[in-house]
Amino acid sequence: MAALRDGHGRVATDLRVSLTDRCNLRCSYCMPAEGLDWLPDATLLTDDELVRLIDIATRMLGVTEVRFTGGEPLVRKGLVGIVERVAGLEQAPEMSLTTNGIGLSRLAAPLAAAGLDRVNVSLDTIRADTFEQITRRRRLDDVLAGLAAAQQAGLGPVKVNAVLLRGVNDDQAPELVDWALAHGYQLRFIEQMPLDAQHGWSREQMVTADEIFHALSARFRLSPASEPRGSAPAELFTVDGGPGTVGVIASVTRPFCGDCDRVRLTADGQVRDCLFARTESDLLTPLRAGASDDELAERWIRAMRGKAAGHGIDDPRFLQPDRPMSAIGG
Ligand code: GTP
Ligand code: 5AD
Ligand code: SF4
Repeated sequence: MAALRDGHGRVATDLRVSLTDRCNLRCSYCMPAEGLDWLPDATLLTDDELVRLIDIATRMLGVTEVRFTGGEPLVRKGLVGIVERVAGLEQAPEMSLTTNGIGLSRLAAPLAAAGLDRVNVSLDTIRADTFEQITRRRRLDDVLAGLAAAQQAGLGPVKVNAVLLRGVNDDQAPELVDWALAHGYQLRFIEQMPLDAQHGWSREQMVTADEIFHALSARFRLSPASEPRGSAPAELFTVDGGPGTVGVIASVTRPFCGDCDRVRLTADGQVRDCLFARTESDLLTPLRAGASDDELAERWIRAMRGKAAGHGIDDPRFLQPDRPMSAIGG
């Protein structure tokens, strides 16, 4: 089988598929209150096209894990059907979903039955007022119900991703840890990356992994967890002797690019070799022009060759990618 190998010797086996760029929240660190110009429906990969590309990736290119992202993947109609079809592929991948949790209380059980293995839920606060301040929507209860349903449906270990924002929720890290431990969720704090649509990110505003670690150490005894990190972005710590853990994803200050095993497919059929890629490779056009599986696989292989060694955020010449995270996939 061919592999998605880049020029630095890394092989991508983890495919992150954005199902839509739309979202039902408006997180201030992601997009403006009025939303964005969404991709036109006609440019979105259809369910058939998506399943075909995932089949090529798993059967011909060595992809073993597929993560569905957005925007918000649960707003995509037909999601359960897509999961079911991917689970039935010749080389069925491990399948996971990164979601804001809204709608998960209804969808968790059908998704699990269709073959989804795990979910990661984004939640930055457990206070209703802070939730509304960050997401500009009053939906905290929906998210909490979604988390409970995911755990009930066996979509675990359920992970919770939290972004800390200076002056907004950066004083809430310990209460998030208490809450996550009490519910059996694996909490990970994420450093904010320069991927917002407004281009408002600044290094000074970013709450760093070191700051998070120090804030937590004032309340908890943290020890590095024994599991090797590998290509996983989270560094894990056991809390007060365990078994509970908390993770820190230090994408900016301790990049894990050297071990990257990821490749992305946008909702409009473009391969991105990195979150921060400045170019994309079009699979949608050849696919709709009748390209064979071999031709699409060949294009995909070529798309990976120029993958940069790292995200380059520290380089003074760094430029944010043209697309925001909501259109790339988290
Ligand atoms: P698992 O640990 O396998 O469940 O997945 P994950 O942590 O990779 O997935 P998730 O979608 O929950 O991503 C968590 C966070 O990791 C994202 O919000 C990003 O901040 C960060 N992240 C994910 N992919 C990348 C990547 O390719 N590069 C960088 N720098 N950060 C990433
Ligand atoms: N930096 C880091 N994480 C981000 N997310 C969204 N925007 C950013 C950003 N600029 C997170 C969401 C979600 C995941 C998909 O990415 O909160 O947990
Ligand atoms: Fe939606 Fe995720 Fe962006 Fe929040 S961070 S607005 S949940 S895409």
